[in-house]
Amino acid sequence: MTTLIPTRNWDDLVQHDRVHGSVYSDEELFQLELERIWYRTWVYVGHVSEVPKLNDFVVKSIGPQPVIMTRDGEGQIHLLLNRCPHRGNQVCLEHAGNRKSFTCPYHGWTFSNTGSLRGYPFAAGYEGTDRSTLGLGKVARIGIYQGFVFGSMAVEGPTLEEHLGAARGALDALVVTSPEGEVEITAGFLQHKAKSNWKFIVENETDGYHPQFVHASIFDVASSGIGDLYSADSTAVARDMGGGHTEIDLRPEFRRIGQPMGWFGTTEARLPEYVSKMREAYGTERANEIMIDGTPHIMIFPNLFIAEIQIFVIQPLAVDETVQHVTALQFKGAPDLNRRLRQQTMGSVGPAGFLLADDSEMYERTQRGVRSRNPEWNYLGRGLARERRDADGFLIGDATDEVTTRGIWSHYRSLMEAQ
Ligand code: FES
Ligand code: FE
Repeated sequence: MTTLIPTRNWDDLVQHDRVHGSVYSDEELFQLELERIWYRTWVYVGHVSEVPKLNDFVVKSIGPQPVIMTRDGEGQIHLLLNRCPHRGNQVCLEHAGNRKSFTCPYHGWTFSNTGSLRGYPFAAGYEGTDRSTLGLGKVARIGIYQGFVFGSMAVEGPTLEEHLGAARGALDALVVTSPEGEVEITAGFLQHKAKSNWKFIVENETDGYHPQFVHASIFDVASSGIGDLYSADSTAVARDMGGGHTEIDLRPEFRRIGQPMGWFGTTEARLPEYVSKMREAYGTERANEIMIDGTPHIMIFPNLFIAEIQIFVIQPLAVDETVQHVTALQFKGAPDLNRRLRQQTMGSVGPAGFLLADDSEMYERTQRGVRSRNPEWNYLGRGLARERRDADGFLIGDATDEVTTRGIWSHYRSLMEAQ
């Protein structure tokens, strides 16, 4: 693809332990990110459970572009672009529904839910036109892992499995929280818009340094033990999983406590139905392991954050505007756990929730802060001297270290430097 954007010297923008403030506010750089990251790498779009029945559809996005995720009459999932090949109108204005076809409101062209053009009014004017070239645009590649649907606008490139790499293990660990081995994204999404660059949000998701300060009030009010997970004494581990994927692995702390459902801030006595279904499904020993370890805290680059009890889908709209789509995780066959997951999600990231409002304030203040040009760089060196490799060869640090942030930026730079 040709670009009018001048070649950059990346050493002036991203170094191993620092990043230049302009990468959050440069409009041209944002356009280049769309080309080289959002329209090239694998991006999370939606979940198969959002289109459970034949001919269901839901509107999602890849960056600023809307994407219609459909399930056709045979059960196959498609990712279609919401642009009429006639004169560019948006063909789908509903958020979700069930339909075999979409009719463009402008001149009435009709498309099947696989994207192909079914017909146009007054066909007599189109003699000799090849209909097969006039379907809806499609996301070039689609990949599904554990029910999570990803799209890549690039025809060629790494497979989804290659892109996910070690992050696949986190999705595997997530689905076994269900006694039936399946996640369901059925609780409905809240959308939070922040006047901030998307990369502040990606960085913050696995920043284990801020919770004790930014979230001090909720930890205090709720008498929550979460703050201790991110203290200087925590045995939790910050990990750079490669490929821009990062996590805070809280399992060492939960294993130290050793209580099933401790990760969820409760006890097995409060969820008897769920606990017995889990033991039936996996056997007592394995079920206890799963219920002690809990769910992952992982940022799958560039836009899917699994935050133990919720997912956040990050959507950049402009260099200084980002939407986070948030929903409670739901686990198939676990109605009692699911009810609590929805309640906790409302309390933490709902309209009057405590957690997300605190983070959003930080995103917007940081966006304003980096307008000041001195100092020019953000320093990301926390934990550099105590970084180490785990048994799988991944770089890890203490829970509050910036090994995760450095991993994100090194992958970002490799994507942005690739022509
Ligand atoms: Fe869609 Fe004309 S723009 S039918
Ligand atoms: Fe936070």
